[in-house]
Amino acid sequence: MKWRIVNHYAELSRLAAEMVAEQVRNKPTSVLGLATGSTPIGMYGELSEMVRRGEISLKGVTTFNLDEYIGLTPDHPQSYHYYMNEHLFSKVDLLPENRHIPYAEKGEFSDEECKACEEYDRLIEERGGIDLQILGIGHNGHIGFNEPSLSLEVGTHVVALTEETREANARFFRSIEEVPTHAITMGVGSIMKAKRILLLVSGADKKEVLARLYAEGVTTELPASLLHLHPDVTVIADQEAAGWLPVEEIVKEET
Ligand code: F6R
Repeated sequence: MKWRIVNHYAELSRLAAEMVAEQVRNKPTSVLGLATGSTPIGMYGELSEMVRRGEISLKGVTTFNLDEYIGLTPDHPQSYHYYMNEHLFSKVDLLPENRHIPYAEKGEFSDEECKACEEYDRLIEERGGIDLQILGIGHNGHIGFNEPSLSLEVGTHVVALTEETREANARFFRSIEEVPTHAITMGVGSIMKAKRILLLVSGADKKEVLARLYAEGVTTELPASLLHLHPDVTVIADQEAAGWLPVEEIVKEET
């Protein structure tokens, strides 16, 4: 695991966008794994600007998002379909047929019924697998919606959200009751199959979970710790989240 500590969120966003751009320049038909949440918003902004300035094109790129709530339609402002459109898709030249976000109808609460899950994993394989996966981390160490548990699922599946995650995401809804109880998410196996992984961590509220990720061994009770087993993971964190880390590779950019 490589750690790159930058001064603040704007630098994190620029560095992450630059790494994505480099991936796309090296392989214009790259398959990217995308995350939602507050952390990658700045990176999407930077990428959109790069495309607008003609520095990169996403025309040959295929994307697969990590997850989506169940029970929100794609036009619901809190759905991840809406988020992706708002922050990236509407601003770049990524072809609509190459954008993928998992989607399950309300009622598909068991894996047996989740045909969309199998189909999603099949599609990722068909497109050659994910070249670069972007991740954020939850306060409880979740990646995607893979919540701490005795066992973790390998492939895309339906998950019941923990109260902690629903509470953390309630800030985007009018009340906690409106936060969906279930989601569809790529599994840790699907995430670990990505050739490269970029984990973005920002803010003082992520200090504790980052300390656990840094110090603890691999445990399903901290799903992000599985990333220690992956051969090519870069963590980009800002000072607020990781200033105290005794890591060797520290990137400090001029602001
Ligand atoms: C989003 C996702 C989640 C978030 C995580 C951190 O697609 O899969 O795992 O990355 O909850 O969210 P933020 O960035 O809002 O702190």
